Amino acid sequence: MATVRQKLLRWYDAAARDLPWRHTRDPYAIWVSEVMLQQTRVETVIPYYRRFLESFPTARALAEADEDAVLSHWSGLGYYRRARMLHAGVREVVDQYGGKVPEDRDARRALPGVGRYTAGAIGSIAFDKEEPIVDGNVARVLARLSRIDTPIGASATTSRLWEEAARLVPGRRPGDLNQALMELGATICTPKQPGCESCPVAGECLAYASDEVDALPVPRVRKPPKKVKMAAVVATRGRGADRKVWLVKGDQPLFGGLWGVPMAEGKARTVLSQAGLNAKLGTKPIGEVEHVLTHRRLQIDVYLASAARGEESEARRRFAPGDLESVGVSTLTRKLLASALGR
Ligand code: ADE
Repeated sequence: MATVRQKLLRWYDAAARDLPWRHTRDPYAIWVSEVMLQQTRVETVIPYYRRFLESFPTARALAEADEDAVLSHWSGLGYYRRARMLHAGVREVVDQYGGKVPEDRDARRALPGVGRYTAGAIGSIAFDKEEPIVDGNVARVLARLSRIDTPIGASATTSRLWEEAARLVPGRRPGDLNQALMELGATICTPKQPGCESCPVAGECLAYASDEVDALPVPRVRKPPKKVKMAAVVATRGRGADRKVWLVKGDQPLFGGLWGVPMAEGKARTVLSQAGLNAKLGTKPIGEVEHVLTHRRLQIDVYLASAARGEESEARRRFAPGDLESVGVSTLTRKLLASALGR
């Protein structure tokens, strides 16, 4: 009788999608892919992954890059903290380990931005180590297989899931076993309308046996995102083809490190003066932009300010709208600019 493990691996060999990071064992490249894949869909990640590795093919190349260049490659992926942490982690690998990602698990775990998941993904996929991983897809698969009926996110659930993952991983090809679990969650053991009839381990699945697949996993108890009213000011200087827009960097809590349209809770006038700008401010917002993050729903009144003056500095610069491709700007900043400038 084949074990769950064997069935998963056999199925993975036949069914795995051909994804670019599955052609490498380079721990650095796998690290990049896994950080991008946290919170972002596979199809979205593929072109970002390719561009990123083209520009920063090695840990050393990334370590030597400046933050703006790194963030510009992340522009549109969101959760920019991931990029900054990856950058910091890779710099430490270069400083402390001569550019080689450490095989030792504790050393990997001690790197900035490398949690249990990322450490396990690098360890198992790049180094063939029997280290478990649990992400959202794996959690769903394991909750169904083992009929775990406590809510996702509860600490007891998290412990159970990691225990189950640790029980499955020992044996040959631990990296492929982990990826098989992820792949099953992404393609068959999906949240809605799972394809149990084509599942390689339906025969071992406790939720399937008790007809509870649709009820598991029990969703996390999440508070609805809190509404936050904000004002953003798109401050321009010049007209027509010479028009430039002021962006700020640094002190914005949400997108720290990226160039962004000045915004804050409070009045547009205050936003403008906090940005160190002087301008003719429109009396009414010219649009409203909504942006939903995990815990907050931002409702942003967008104001236009013309003939904006100020000194350029580390934290404040004028950009021609066409030049924004070369620096890191967030999707929110793009939305705000589109709403104000119609581009
Ligand atoms: N999601 C996270 N890691 C992944 C991987 N290695 N392959 C596919 N999807 C993933």
